[in-house]
Amino acid sequence: MKNTVLTMQKQKEQGDKISMLTAYDYSTAKLMDQAGINSLLVGDSLGMVMLGYEDTLSVTMEDMIHHSRAVANGAQNALVVTDLPFMSYHISIPDAVANAGRLIKEGHAAAVKLEGGEAFSETIQAITRASIPVMGHIGLTPQSIHAFGGFKVQGKTIEAAQKILQDALAVEKAGAFAIVLEAIPADLAALITKKLTIPTIGIGAGNQTDGQVLVYQDMLGMYGEMQPKFVKRYADLGAEMNSAIQHYKTEIQQEQFPAAEHTFSIAPEIIAALEKGIKH
Ligand code: KIV
Repeated sequence: MKNTVLTMQKQKEQGDKISMLTAYDYSTAKLMDQAGINSLLVGDSLGMVMLGYEDTLSVTMEDMIHHSRAVANGAQNALVVTDLPFMSYHISIPDAVANAGRLIKEGHAAAVKLEGGEAFSETIQAITRASIPVMGHIGLTPQSIHAFGGFKVQGKTIEAAQKILQDALAVEKAGAFAIVLEAIPADLAALITKKLTIPTIGIGAGNQTDGQVLVYQDMLGMYGEMQPKFVKRYADLGAEMNSAIQHYKTEIQQEQFPAAEHTFSIAPEIIAALEKGIKH
């Protein structure tokens, strides 16, 4: 069944937890879709896990459109949500609406996500007015790492927790259909989840949110540069890939690959005739 923003809302109402993973390419998106993941996030984390940058700040609209289109091609049922990258929605509201529109028209996403709370209320309103569903994202918002002084848990003091709650309520009021809560205390995420009518998707926010999202390279053990406390490794594909690649290299060196079953044949007389021809 095709997942839409309405499906996500229904899941919250029925207490059916929402599963979301990041995806950046066709074949991985297809595998996730076939596994029944409800929603695929084309996150600007692609700057780090796909492009090798230190953070997400250099990701461009072109990067997002390119990867979003590939994911949309692989997602038959999952709801594709694509991130608005840093500075694509900060300069002006018309700019934000135009860039959100590009993610839908050119990136084939079904919704967009942007980082920020109350300060982005008008931007969220304007994008939703253009009939583009918006997912909010508050708490640790990686596009603000320089302002935060690094990748740090947010909302630990009464003032900070109050601000995050206020941001969540503002994002809902502005018309967002769902909100990501990143790296905040579990009890704060649980409280926000109770207060909001829209679904909350947690990452490092405990298990009382309406759904969960992880960066797939983190949960599959394919990205070693950073290992946040909130990540659970469900597989060690990095080690598996390394071993398979080394095996491939050894078999090339030992002429075990390609074997007969990987090889095309030709009648020996043809080769013999060619050899004769070469001699003359
Ligand atoms: O870019 C991303 O992958 C994200 C998730 C971490 C929520 O925003």
